[in-house]
Amino acid sequence: MASSWYGALLRCGGNKGQWLTETMATVEIHSDGEVEGLRGIDWFLLQRLFVFLRPYLVWLVAALLMAVLSAVIAPARPYLSKLAVDHAVGAQETQIFIWLVVAILAVVLVHALLQYGLTYLLQWVGQRALFAVRMQVYEHILRLALRFHDTTPVGRLVTRTTNDVEGLNEFFSSGLVMLVADVLLILCVVAFMVVTDWYLALLTLAVLPLLLIASLVFRVKVRKVYRHIRQQLARLNAFLSEHLSGITTVQLFHQQARQFQRFERLNQRYLQLQRRSVFYYAVFFPTVDVVWALAIVVILWYAAGALSVGSLSVGTLIAFMQYVEMFFRPVRDLTERYNVLQTALVSAERIFGILGLRHEIKDVPDAIPMPPLRSGLEFRNVSLSYDGLVPALHNVSFTVHRGEMVALVGATGAGKTSVVNALCRFYEFQEGDILVDGLSIRKLQQRSLRQRIVVVLQDDVLFSRTVLENIVFGQSGIAEEKVRDALRQLGMEAFIERLPQGLATVVGERGVNLSSGERQLIALCRAFVSGADVIILDEATAHVDSQTEHLLEKAIEALRREGRTCVVIAHRLATVQRADRLVVIHRGEVREVGSHAELMARNGIYARLYRLQYARPQAA
Ligand SMILES: Nc1ncnc2c1ncn2[C@@H]1O[C@H](COP(=O)(O)OP(=O)(O)OP(=O)(O)O)[C@@H](O)[C@H]1O
Ligand SMILES: [Mg+2]
Repeated sequence: MASSWYGALLRCGGNKGQWLTETMATVEIHSDGEVEGLRGIDWFLLQRLFVFLRPYLVWLVAALLMAVLSAVIAPARPYLSKLAVDHAVGAQETQIFIWLVVAILAVVLVHALLQYGLTYLLQWVGQRALFAVRMQVYEHILRLALRFHDTTPVGRLVTRTTNDVEGLNEFFSSGLVMLVADVLLILCVVAFMVVTDWYLALLTLAVLPLLLIASLVFRVKVRKVYRHIRQQLARLNAFLSEHLSGITTVQLFHQQARQFQRFERLNQRYLQLQRRSVFYYAVFFPTVDVVWALAIVVILWYAAGALSVGSLSVGTLIAFMQYVEMFFRPVRDLTERYNVLQTALVSAERIFGILGLRHEIKDVPDAIPMPPLRSGLEFRNVSLSYDGLVPALHNVSFTVHRGEMVALVGATGAGKTSVVNALCRFYEFQEGDILVDGLSIRKLQQRSLRQRIVVVLQDDVLFSRTVLENIVFGQSGIAEEKVRDALRQLGMEAFIERLPQGLATVVGERGVNLSSGERQLIALCRAFVSGADVIILDEATAHVDSQTEHLLEKAIEALRREGRTCVVIAHRLATVQRADRLVVIHRGEVREVGSHAELMARNGIYARLYRLQYARPQAA
């Protein structure tokens, strides 16, 4: 026999490893741990996947031709050996024998070349297609509106762009072509067997039903256990992502030991399931080998009688031994390929699920670039609801003149950030309008709108690059000198110099090694150098130390001196006292507008907020 059963197991273990990675890679991290199960072949999905392969159609056709050629050539080798052996045994013409040996070598060489070409071509096409899918998924995710990102865990999107795409690998690179190649090879081998000796062919193939039954049982069992494995892995992933992102809380409440035990239980179950799958594989492959051996026994048993009466030549016997090996490998692989195909389809479904989402806020067809701000902004009866039920903004109206500093104040959850969300079109408002110099922002190109109106977010995210790179983020051609100049104007030089490497200091991922106030200062500088007409500062809610607060105030002063229009959302009312106008937002509505003195005199919501903030420390 060509290989021992454990050899086969090891080989298939390799396949299985790959299979597993593919399978695992596509697991959906649903919070409830539910995972879609495997199902039949979905032709519609296959068609959509083909779109990615279309640019490489010529190469695929070439690969298919190579596969066909290879399938035809492979069984020719045993046939030629039969002829060669028969000639050698018969000790007839040496010339013919030599030619046959040369032919066998030629066949082996051509077959090897074809296999090389085929593998290389398929992998190349596969990787190109994966590249295209990855680009398309990422591009799509970037364009999806914030409303979508609010409700989608980041982990899931990362899985979509990397692992799920990888799940298509097998399909793109070898999947269909190799499926065709395997089927062809089986057919060709059978044809050659029949041509060589139809009676012996029939006898050999008599073991086929056994093989079919074994494959069927294996497929059903494995499919079931994999479904469970995927569900369990989803639970494991969900648990991990939840507890790792909440690691601070876990450590704060000293829950490490308990979380560890819970994880161990989940992991234990996962191990059990894996062990069961290993068991099926460990049983299936030796079973195939037993059937294979059976086929050989049948051949030998027949040969024992037939050789002596001369109805079978030694060459035919040798040829059949090789045919049997050639026949069983693709039969066994087919079971595997079917599984891989299904895995790819599950991945594809998830990827197309993302690609099919239409959440972006689109520019109207005749949108124009926003011209430089001349007179100011106006909110006119704007209402916005995030979920379509509860309004976050209701009938909000106020104006901001060019060069003014307007402060938005209100309690937590009052709707201040929502005003910014509407203005920058991060979220679509449902009623009313926002006008820029009398022009509706819906008629402006979002790109230009966000260039002219820049927000320093409440919790601005920096990227893991240098401070300088963060400041010039998204704007090409800004010289370091200009940035230094901006820092000087904003009074932030000393602050930057205090950082370990100044502007070249690398910010930790998401800016974790900076305080939220420091992050805002850097983001403010980014807004300043961008040359935006309107700068909106959504002040950090987290307590900012008095030094950073002082810096922020100085920076705002600098912006005003430059004649930029500023909208400041401030929690420390001291910051906003110098504003030209204060807009007090309460439960999504504008309740008071006026200067600090006017609002204090009015003794309304603002005066109450102010007293709440300042009365207590004085009383203490
Ligand atoms: N992305 C969102 N999706 C759904 N609801 C939201 C979203 N953002 C805010 N909300 C809700 O809208 C209301 C107003 O929130 P908003 O963020 O505008 O408050 P805020 O005044 O900025 O509060 P804070 O001072 O705490 O920053 C809140 O009830 C909040 O729960
Ligand atoms: Mg806010």
